[in-house]
Amino acid sequence: MSAVAPRAEDSEFRIVVSRKGKNRPKSRAKLQTSFNRPQEQSVERTEVCHHTATKQLQAAESELLQSAFFSECCEEFQPILVGVKRIICLGLGRFSECSIARYQLAFIRCLRDKANLGERVQFYDPVFSSSEVEILQSLAETVLQENVEGKYSTESDRTLFYLPHCPKQIVNNVLWKNWQQEHLTNVILLCNSFCSITNNHPRRFLEKSAGYILRATGVFREVPLRNNFRFTDIFNDTSLHYISTGVKLDDISWENTEEPSYDTEDLELITKEVVENLVFS
Ligand SMILES: C[S@@+](CC[C@H](N)C(=O)[O-])C[C@H]1O[C@@H](n2cnc3c(N)ncnc32)[C@H](O)[C@@H]1O
Repeated sequence: MSAVAPRAEDSEFRIVVSRKGKNRPKSRAKLQTSFNRPQEQSVERTEVCHHTATKQLQAAESELLQSAFFSECCEEFQPILVGVKRIICLGLGRFSECSIARYQLAFIRCLRDKANLGERVQFYDPVFSSSEVEILQSLAETVLQENVEGKYSTESDRTLFYLPHCPKQIVNNVLWKNWQQEHLTNVILLCNSFCSITNNHPRRFLEKSAGYILRATGVFREVPLRNNFRFTDIFNDTSLHYISTGVKLDDISWENTEEPSYDTEDLELITKEVVENLVFS
């Protein structure tokens, strides 16, 4: 008997399109974003997709709400999330096609509602299809239009950044943008574990590619999310990171806050330029 834990990725069913020519390789690979994707699907097909995707999301939400995994998360996270005014979700991925992204979407919507963290989540991922943008909007969520590569300032709002398995350069950019006393204490990050990032990469590489994460490990407290959901590849290696009230802010180095820049060969995130070129080419 196999003792392998179930993975959401393996449970995915795929739609096989058998119409002639549909599976032929395209002559030129082109990344399609929510802003340049051709509207080639018929209205009926789009509506069916909306309906299916919304039903699947509802099923994922109801499963999560009944799970011990979600109850434990809420119990542990709720006290830390008190006062959160804004939730920004980046790097969710194609939730109408990928069950990992769908459960991650279900998770943040359920957490927002359970913990009374406001009305809407703000989403951005350059790979969202136009249909996914419409689904989020029809669910009364907000879809941000601009690729700021994670450089969002919290200003005076305590903000939860939900970045499920997001490129670490996006996390690094969030930290850079808020690296000042009044802002950094408003940053809460639910993303890949800082501990794993620092343990699994050479320091020399991190100094170039994730310098603010390195600095943040000494400042942020990390609460690992217990990965006991039915599927093990959705919420793995995920922690909540925040600055606890006991931290002496005067001991933190607030100087040397150069904007990060990444070597092209090390780029993990989709840059502003890539998206702009796709839109206007
Ligand atoms: C490793 S995937 C994670 C997808 C999904 N959340 C998961 O756990 O499987 C990283 C995601 O980050 C997104 N991403 C890349 N650059 C981004 C940017 N500038 N802003 C927001 N999301 C970005 C990608 O499009 C992709 O969906």
